[in-house]
Amino acid sequence: MSKLLEAALAARENAHAPFSKFKVGAALEDQTGRIFTGCNVENATYGLTVCAERVAVLKAISEGARKFTRIAIAADTDVLTPPCGACRQILWEFCGNAELILVNLQGKTESLRMKDLFPRPFDASFLD
Ligand code: THU
Repeated sequence: MSKLLEAALAARENAHAPFSKFKVGAALEDQTGRIFTGCNVENATYGLTVCAERVAVLKAISEGARKFTRIAIAADTDVLTPPCGACRQILWEFCGNAELILVNLQGKTESLRMKDLFPRPFDASFLD
């Protein structure tokens, strides 16, 4: 298994998901091979919950990374878990048409492109 997938699975272990019990891990690889990870962090107000993907993106951006090549998302589901709508918007903004690799605890994987999951995005090109 690749380092990126292992990083997403390991990040999942840190999930703070006492309400849903649904743990997610994400790992983002930048152009230079650096890996940034995230897990979902839930809140008692529910609405302030932040998904694993957004935690990983915000960590990476705040540490100065800018160009990303691959994103791995790990969850314990037979049908592999894709990013939610809000995360697709954020991932598009910072990762564009990057490769997305979904993985579960059995090591089942599926590789997709962001464009396939998010075909007609609103983005900065409309603000020109
Ligand atoms: N969640 C993620 O972290 N990423 C996803 O791609 C889907 C959902 C989290 C949010 C919440 O903590 C829990 O999973 C259930 O929705």
